[in-house]
Amino acid sequence: MFMKMMMAEKFHQFLHAFVIVVLLLFMKPALGLSSRVEDAKTKCIERERQALLKFKYDLIDDYGILSSWGSEEDKKDCCKWRGVGCNNHTGHVTMLDLHVLYNYSLDPPYRALRGKSSPSLLELQHLKYLDLSGNEFHDDITKLRNLSNLQYLDLGDNYDLKCGNLEWLSHLSLLSHLDLSYVNLSKATDWVQSINNLPLLKELRLIDCTLPDITTHPSLPLNSSVSLSMLDLSYNYLSSSIYSWLFNFSSSLIDVALSDNQLKGLIPDSFGGMISLANLSLGSNHLEGALPKSFANLTHIRSLGHMRCSAPGLGIS
Ligand SMILES: *[C@@H]1O[C@H](CO)[C@@H](O)[C@H](O)[C@H]1NC(C)=O
Ligand SMILES: *[C@@H]1O[C@H](CO)[C@@H](O)[C@H](O)[C@H]1NC(C)=O
Ligand SMILES: *[C@@H]1O[C@H](CO)[C@@H](O)[C@H](O)[C@H]1NC(C)=O
Ligand SMILES: *[C@@H]1O[C@H](CO)[C@@H](O)[C@H](O)[C@H]1NC(C)=O
Ligand SMILES: *[C@@H]1O[C@H](CO)[C@@H](O)[C@H](O)[C@H]1NC(C)=O
Ligand SMILES: *[C@@H]1O[C@H](CO)[C@@H](O)[C@H](O)[C@H]1NC(C)=O
Ligand SMILES: *[C@@H]1O[C@H](CO)[C@@H](O)[C@H](O)[C@H]1NC(C)=O
Ligand SMILES: *[C@@H]1O[C@H](CO)[C@@H](O)[C@H](O)[C@H]1NC(C)=O
Repeated sequence: MFMKMMMAEKFHQFLHAFVIVVLLLFMKPALGLSSRVEDAKTKCIERERQALLKFKYDLIDDYGILSSWGSEEDKKDCCKWRGVGCNNHTGHVTMLDLHVLYNYSLDPPYRALRGKSSPSLLELQHLKYLDLSGNEFHDDITKLRNLSNLQYLDLGDNYDLKCGNLEWLSHLSLLSHLDLSYVNLSKATDWVQSINNLPLLKELRLIDCTLPDITTHPSLPLNSSVSLSMLDLSYNYLSSSIYSWLFNFSSSLIDVALSDNQLKGLIPDSFGGMISLANLSLGSNHLEGALPKSFANLTHIRSLGHMRCSAPGLGIS
């Protein structure tokens, strides 16, 4: 009797297992199908995967930022690697975002990649978005001229990047966002000309770049760009001769920062012609006098930041 009960229970267990196996067999095609769909959605192009791996192996990655990048079986799809984005339809790598965030509860408070990035980056011909800001690359950035699909380029806070002139920029004619802040551009005497050749540029940040003053180039053909809306040239040594270039963008500029430069004399009336202006910072220059009457035209103005000028009693007259 006891034996019979045991056998009956065994049989039930067996039946249970059998049902599960049969169910799994029936479900398998469905599971297979969904993983094929997944594969199709995120196919990574082998040549670009190799280029990314080469990029990784030429760098020093003290903090394992690129630990999801590898040739192991479970890491095959480079579109799923940290910081990499692909086009859903073509599979081409279109985005590389390895910017460094500061977090003051970490020691050190940032986690950066170091070294010389290999030319393999140039194989990513479909890149539209490249953000390597805050790292410690010490390349010659002029080679990026080949990435002619770039729309967004941020190499800011890479103190050791090498850069001669900015002629290479003229080849990136689709750029709408450019940030080279804290890169030493002291040799880029052609910077205005190069910027003028970027017809789609909307945002430009060249903070603390040791930019050469514009006076060294008397005649500059303007071939751009009525679209420039954000301009930050603070912490350079620019003189008032920047105005001749600046006011060419009067109708499009919304945010303008020129603080900590060498601007002298009266604040020009022409700022009043920047009809869309929302934020203007002119502080820490050597400007004199009151704000011109034309500033009353600036109906969208939100902030006149840090208007620290040498003359006391500054205010709209
Ligand atoms: C690509 O796929 C992602 C998520 O799967 C989606 O958020 C994004 O909108 C898609 N992009 C295009 C261009 O289809
Ligand atoms: C900063 O780092 C700490 C410690 O690892 C973490 O708990 C916190 O979430 C981080 N903060 C941000 C904003 O990433
Ligand atoms: C980059 O462009 C130069 C010519 O401008 C060409 O010689 C070189 O082969 C290109 N490199 C890549 C990786 O496309
Ligand atoms: C920038 O580079 C120039 C020449 O390459 C050098 O003389 C100058 O000291 C550098 N400036 C800074 C702030 O590092
Ligand atoms: C102006 O831009 C066009 C293309 O947008 C280019 O063909 C032409 O050479 C540029 N002119 C100058 C003077 O840079
Ligand atoms: C500003 O535009 C005028 C024509 O509108 C041009 O003559 C001048 O050269 C431009 N200035 C600069 C610095 O590009
Ligand atoms: C102007 O500055 C304010 C405060 O810093 C900021 O929130 C805003 O995004 C800036 N731009 C515009 C267009 O208001
Ligand atoms: C701005 O205001 C001044 C008077 O303060 C006026 O003469 C000038 O035409 C105005 N400019 C624009 C662009 O509205």
